[in-house]
Amino acid sequence: MGIIQSKTSLSQVPEHVAIIMDGNGRWATRRAMSRLKGHEQGAKAVREAVKGCRELEIPYLTLFAFSSENWKRPEEEVNHLMGLFRFFIKREMNELNSVGVRVNFIGNISRLPEDVQKLIEYAVDLTQNNSKLVLTIALSYGGQEEIVNAAKRLAEKVKAGDLNPDDICEEEFASSLDTAGIPDPDLLIRTSGEKRLSNFLLWQSAYSELVFLDVLWPDFRKNHLEQAVDEYCNRCRRYGAVSA
Ligand code: FPP
Repeated sequence: MGIIQSKTSLSQVPEHVAIIMDGNGRWATRRAMSRLKGHEQGAKAVREAVKGCRELEIPYLTLFAFSSENWKRPEEEVNHLMGLFRFFIKREMNELNSVGVRVNFIGNISRLPEDVQKLIEYAVDLTQNNSKLVLTIALSYGGQEEIVNAAKRLAEKVKAGDLNPDDICEEEFASSLDTAGIPDPDLLIRTSGEKRLSNFLLWQSAYSELVFLDVLWPDFRKNHLEQAVDEYCNRCRRYGAVSA
């Protein structure tokens, strides 16, 4: 979707939904459980989000599963999350593949344990020809780091004589990001009531509609996705222009 557009009301579902899955820890703490339990329930809610997107025929879903800042959490929690990612890939990939989901990962994947990197390669390979839904999982991802890396890639091209600095434009920059080839999110949802982007898709969310839901991520169900999509459909996007 081009940046300059004078589209007014949105009767159609978004093409790309991105979600900051927040509130696992609070969900567990409120039940006097360990935070790890919250992440386990959160992994189940991921299925709901995928199912909801398939039913609403939304072709792109991006989930913020682990940020570059999450490495600072206690070792036990980080290890548990890595275990959940392993389990998710091993357990869900055949089903996701059979229903036409293409799985994609963004972020600093080289920082993840080697076996998780191997599983990621396996999942990407297995599902590469699918086209019903592109599920992008952001792991060890930070928007600022992604932008810095894109700038480095462009600088290398300039240094090698393959790119003229005058030719660096928004499109060229976007194609150097981890999300190259994926449309920008139309709708960005954050659960748990917090109202921040927390370093997620900073470049890509320039014109996204932001919807903040009070539900904690482990309680997220299809109806919450529908509620956010309804709100999106009732908004008016002008991309900096005036209404028609
Ligand atoms: C934020 O809640 C959530 C995370 C840092 C982890 C997200 C991971 C999952 C939903 C589980 C697995 C995902 C996949 C793709 C299999 P928080 O811990 O910051 O919650 P709090 O703000 O209430 O403490």
